Amino acid sequence: WLMALAIGVSSLALTPGGAAAQQSPIIIKFSHVVTPDTPKGKGAEKFKELAEARSGGKVKVEVYPNSQLYKDKEEIEALQLGAVQMLAPALSKFGPLGAKEFEVFDLPYIFPNTEALRKVTEGPIGRSLLKKLESKGIIGLGYWDNGFKLMSANRPLLVPADFKGLKMRIQSSKVLEAQFRALGALPQVMAFSEVYQAMQTGVVDGTENTPSNQMTQKIDEVQKHTTLSNHGYIGYVVIVNKTFWEGLPTDLRPILEGAMRDATAYVNQIAQTDNANALAAMKASGKSTYHTLTPEQEAAWRKALAPMHADMGQRVGRDLIEAIHKETG
Ligand code: LMR
Repeated sequence: WLMALAIGVSSLALTPGGAAAQQSPIIIKFSHVVTPDTPKGKGAEKFKELAEARSGGKVKVEVYPNSQLYKDKEEIEALQLGAVQMLAPALSKFGPLGAKEFEVFDLPYIFPNTEALRKVTEGPIGRSLLKKLESKGIIGLGYWDNGFKLMSANRPLLVPADFKGLKMRIQSSKVLEAQFRALGALPQVMAFSEVYQAMQTGVVDGTENTPSNQMTQKIDEVQKHTTLSNHGYIGYVVIVNKTFWEGLPTDLRPILEGAMRDATAYVNQIAQTDNANALAAMKASGKSTYHTLTPEQEAAWRKALAPMHADMGQRVGRDLIEAIHKETG
């Protein structure tokens, strides 16, 4: 058997990459809260595929979807502690991290379309926002799209008065809180994984989210009415623990950066279609009734929400809001 062992060892040594395969791979745990079948879920899988292939197996990416490891707030703490290495929280969830500037993306109607948004995320404003994360021990690798939001409840939401007294689930953003207060509703912060049940049991009355998130969480099953309002945007920043990222072997980091660049391009290419498909599927299933606002109704929403752009200056930075207006206007 010694002979067999010797042959075994020498054939291992002769296998190209044999030595690398012997070393245990670097593990990147990527935790997120949505299903695999969403823009973010698909982006995480794309990053895994590219990172593992291009590193020749030296990196292994373990994707944990559906809040199976951590819910919204816990995942950020886990990243800072090094229990996971990569996340892509919504821009609305950076307040607890001390990076409340990211809530500027929650301002209603701040981006007229995806092109305007892209100018911000891919220009100097987007880069300077990412830089702010470094003092928190975090590196922002790129912006991933989800899309523009729907508004839903068990009654039609056509004019601001329709929101009066409704308990609306929000992500942990002060700007979103102010948005629902401006509409006369009662905002309630809640983890994403709890939304379906909270609606089923009447803990909250309504919510806002993208078509992709509404469909994959089956929110349309528990909301009789949905308004195609496009009043706001949901997107993500992919973040990594700074100590982990900067400690990567120097040959691997550029490979992972390249894999992330390509995964980012992929997400931002599929997100709009994904959301359009989700909306079409939900409409076809007929579980919720879909409403399009008349120009007069939309004008009333805009009027109710317009003061927020001045009011939220104190929270997210007056200069930042102005810079975005300038970039997109
Ligand atoms: C939400 O909590 O509604 C979203 O941020 C979930 C997500 O990650 O898209």
